[in-house]
Amino acid sequence: MTASSKVVVARTLPRAGLALLDERFEVDAGDLAIDRDGLRERVAGAAAIVADPTVPVDDDLLTAAGPALQVVANFAVGYDNVDLDACRSAGVTVTNTPDVLTNATAELTVALMLAAARRLSEGDALVRSGRWTGWEPEQLLGTELSGACVGIVGLGRIGSRVAELLRGFSCDIRYWGRARKPELETSLEAKYRDLGDLEGEADFLTLHLPLNSETHHLIDSTALAHLRKGAILINTSRGGLVDTSALVQALASGRLAAAGLDVYENEPDVADELLRLKNVVLAPHVGSATRRTRDAMARLAAENVIAVLTGGRPPSPVVLASG
Ligand code: DGY
Repeated sequence: MTASSKVVVARTLPRAGLALLDERFEVDAGDLAIDRDGLRERVAGAAAIVADPTVPVDDDLLTAAGPALQVVANFAVGYDNVDLDACRSAGVTVTNTPDVLTNATAELTVALMLAAARRLSEGDALVRSGRWTGWEPEQLLGTELSGACVGIVGLGRIGSRVAELLRGFSCDIRYWGRARKPELETSLEAKYRDLGDLEGEADFLTLHLPLNSETHHLIDSTALAHLRKGAILINTSRGGLVDTSALVQALASGRLAAAGLDVYENEPDVADELLRLKNVVLAPHVGSATRRTRDAMARLAAENVIAVLTGGRPPSPVVLASG
């Protein structure tokens, strides 16, 4: 590190992390705008870039930064916005913010399960419309989470926390992932299933996988056709895991009872067809959006930058540049 190491925060970072960087480096923090040309100019000569899921970090940006760049610290656990191969070739370390957002994201997952199952968006819209005429015996009937079969696709940190939170609902937890996790099968009482079987058994299917070439459109029309009639799909991971057109069809036809989504294929654009459907609860990518969690993420992103620029090992590396 030199006293003048330049750290570019591509957009903004909560004060909890920014303060740690400000104390040590020359920090150029941006704003919420996504101005690619401006960013290219700002990163020239930077030793570190703090990115977030809306900031593609590709060859072009790495070239604009130049040889001083040592680390890209992503302010997110997901890093599908970062071209890891390009970073490896450029000798740039990449870090993310795992663990600190696990609980917040799992809580939002459970919130979406309940909201979708109990049709909270429809109820909210009805009350706001002024057309609610009072209690009715069979108004907005939904389903219950308690005792339901919940299929967790990806029993990693967040998927496991969802399983823990669901203990109080006595759910029958089943999961699929690339590798079986016998220790979690015992501690979480989770049963392993092939993905096809899981799709056919789950009342709620919830997605907790990173987005990459293997998981893109994992939930396509074939997968949706396997789901039980009346199942509910929850996605708090990345929109690209689900084929939106196929999802719209499954929701419109009533094959799926409902969906709860926090993420979309082309954020911030949300397909008009989804916006028109009543049986989908839509959240604006807020899985980790609690004060406590975003501050912790900001601190961790800053600690990653500080570690790399002071010659140490970053706490949460995704790619470690050799040498
Ligand atoms: C993540 O961390 O990947 C979320 O999507 C943003 O909090």
